[in-house]
Amino acid sequence: QKDGYRFFMEKEIYEQSVVISDTLMGRLGENEIIFDELDKTLFDGINEIKLCACGTSYHAAMSASYLFERYSKIKTSLEIASEFRYREPIMTKDTLFVVISQSGETADTLETLKMAKAANLKTLAICNVDNSSMVRLADATILTRAGIEKGVASTKAFATQVSVFWMLSLYIAKRKNSLNAQEIASHISLLREVPSHIKVTDAMHERIKRLSKRYLHGHGFFFIGRDIFYPLALEGALKLKEISYLHAEGYPAGEMKHGPIALADPELFTIALLPKHLHYEKSKSNVEELSARDSTICAISQSEFDKADDFIQISSCEHYMLEFFEMMVVLQLLSLEISIRLGNDVDMPRNLAKSVTVE
Ligand code: M6R
Repeated sequence: QKDGYRFFMEKEIYEQSVVISDTLMGRLGENEIIFDELDKTLFDGINEIKLCACGTSYHAAMSASYLFERYSKIKTSLEIASEFRYREPIMTKDTLFVVISQSGETADTLETLKMAKAANLKTLAICNVDNSSMVRLADATILTRAGIEKGVASTKAFATQVSVFWMLSLYIAKRKNSLNAQEIASHISLLREVPSHIKVTDAMHERIKRLSKRYLHGHGFFFIGRDIFYPLALEGALKLKEISYLHAEGYPAGEMKHGPIALADPELFTIALLPKHLHYEKSKSNVEELSARDSTICAISQSEFDKADDFIQISSCEHYMLEFFEMMVVLQLLSLEISIRLGNDVDMPRNLAKSVTVE
């Protein structure tokens, strides 16, 4: 049931605060992450993590690659499942092969898991659906506990995947001694704050509703961000494409001047992710360059940005990961409202299925 929401996607955006609490439940110790479901020896002898997925799950995996290298100090590589399965990848035994999938049934991702098993790699599945094919096949599983996701456009599944990855980065950090107990404890208190930071406020939703009017027509959208905000930009662009059918691309903010900025004009909308706590000055100067070339800018940030045509303020927070989750909600609502204004069926976008179980 939609419980009074216009679409399941809207309901699922609003549910995120509750489902993230479920994701965290029982997993946050005082200064360690508890994954009872993992064998204590899973990371023994592991020098590399390979993450493999499709679509939104791939964006969550890309986010994980930043967290794993930054906090766990472990080499991490990233694979799009449909590509990986048809090249001739080198798989070494010191690699943990991780598949990420909401459904646990995506054909390409499942196939890569079979390849990793055949190569005798240790495998881990991060899935939402218990007893799915990937859960049954992998050596170990972490369930994301997002509950049933009905909207074709994934929202709460992504939020829970990123939360699991943040926890996993700390779990590995403890085993690799790359963060001390105090550092892990301070991450854990930040993790406890996530549910309140992804709560949708009426004021925020109303602002985005009003603002969405400006973004119905134009040449297209750039979603830009740096570091872990780059996969979030990719995810924002994918959300918009899927349900509004408008052309949108996610880009690393620093790449603009290597070609894409040639497209800048007032009909080119830039959605700029400007976290205060990660590379703020660098990202800001990339946005200024786009503004100087007349792109219409919508900035998402904690503090006002004078070069922006529109500004969406997130609440003040002291860490970039909290800004990440706040911005994630903004991007989801923006796509939702643009799609609704365009009269689209948000939950059943054309040409798409919830689970891609054939190639
Ligand atoms: O079930 P999975 O996470 O394996 O699905 C992967 C993609 O098909 C999925 O994330 C797709 O991109 C969504 N429609 C995104 O909103």
